[in-house]
Amino acid sequence: MARFFIEGGIRLSGEVTVSGAKNSALPIIAASILTDQEVLLENVSDVVDVRTMIQLVEHLGSKVEFKRNTLRIHTPHLRRLEAPYDIVCRMRASYYVLGALVAREHRAVVAMPGGCAIGPRPIDLHIKGLCTLGTKVDISDGYINADARKLVGRKVDLQGPKGTSVGATINVMLAATGASGTTEISPAAVEPEVVDVANFLKTMGIKISGQGTHKITVKGRDVFKERVQYRIIPDRIEAGTLAVAAAITRGNVFIKGCVVDHMTSVLEKLQEIGVDVKQVEGGIIVNGSGRKSATDIFVAPYPGFPTDMQAQFMALLAVVPGTSTIKESIFENRFMQAVELMRMGADITIEGDTAVVKGVKQLSGTQLMASDLRASSALVLAGLAAKGNTVVRRIYHLDRGYEKFEAKLRGLGARIRRGK
Ligand code: EPZ
Repeated sequence: MARFFIEGGIRLSGEVTVSGAKNSALPIIAASILTDQEVLLENVSDVVDVRTMIQLVEHLGSKVEFKRNTLRIHTPHLRRLEAPYDIVCRMRASYYVLGALVAREHRAVVAMPGGCAIGPRPIDLHIKGLCTLGTKVDISDGYINADARKLVGRKVDLQGPKGTSVGATINVMLAATGASGTTEISPAAVEPEVVDVANFLKTMGIKISGQGTHKITVKGRDVFKERVQYRIIPDRIEAGTLAVAAAITRGNVFIKGCVVDHMTSVLEKLQEIGVDVKQVEGGIIVNGSGRKSATDIFVAPYPGFPTDMQAQFMALLAVVPGTSTIKESIFENRFMQAVELMRMGADITIEGDTAVVKGVKQLSGTQLMASDLRASSALVLAGLAAKGNTVVRRIYHLDRGYEKFEAKLRGLGARIRRGK
């Protein structure tokens, strides 16, 4: 199994370009099966999760060509209406084909995604939303059987126990494209990836409005424009991870191609810590030489501080003087990186949903085990800053969501290589 071998202690410098957003690409690929016309997607990140989604739409009947971050998808007919467990168990986001199949074929069979390393992750809101639109849902033998012969636009209440849901908002948006009449989704998630999917649907000819607010309106229709061409937004989480890489190594890095407006809460936290962040044409320059103050982080849906950046900040706060706290309010089990960071000498205590991080002078390199995508990147960041050598195992988690991660870091001077 592949591992990363990292020699720590090098200040990163230079420039790096951000890839396309994984969490936009996944639902947009699923949404591409709504039409029998060709779809051309640009800025698609070549990561394992995207490859898995491509495999799934090919299984359903799409013809796909993926070259140099450009993806062509053509689905004249759907051959199958089933997302099998062996694909869904590799990637939860497979459930986005549920909304798309329901809209196009009024039927779908999708394996139930289980929990995952970061928590139980229910999909009750997705099901509730589809049922509100008139879908009959039967869950048996581990599969969701959806029968949507009478799909009707309605008001859909997607209030979840933790606030809004990115996945449920997108799945209901996709299903609503095939409903007669108007669907009103409220409260809708406002993450940039939700807006990206809505903008893609708009490019397809769907009448959709309100994206980026807590009420999205979709007018269902089934006649699509001819050929669709769409460019996926830059990945704000990859950009944030690279910003933390600059900060944690006291480096100076130009992060090109990011959308600064999508990163406000993350950049504000970096500035609070004493990291210099300059917005320049084409991106941001992050200079970590002056970091000095502890901070308190409260994870919340967008525009709050993203749960997908919490692990990377834990690695950074582990070496920032003073006592910081991180409250993770979205996923129950997302502090998996803490015990590994503690093995590097970090002073972290977990009290329920809050981590208390007391900054130490330096972390020391050791053998580490990655547990999920963002925890993996946090361990790599810690390894870059640590004294001595770090080995990160199970980096297949990281490959799911970061394109050419070690090559990008090497381009900034990091000593990191992949090996067995
Ligand atoms: C998306 O997951 C992202 N995944 C996650 O990215 C991200 O962490 C998360 O949004 C929050 O921003 C993709 O886009 C593929 P949610 P999703 O539904 O859609 C609860 C990464 O590292 N909930 O917004 O699954 C849920 O348990 C990842 O790239 C219900 O209770 O997240 C959570 O507490 C991992 N019932 C909260 O809502 C439901 O039916 C928000 O989850 C659905 C969700």
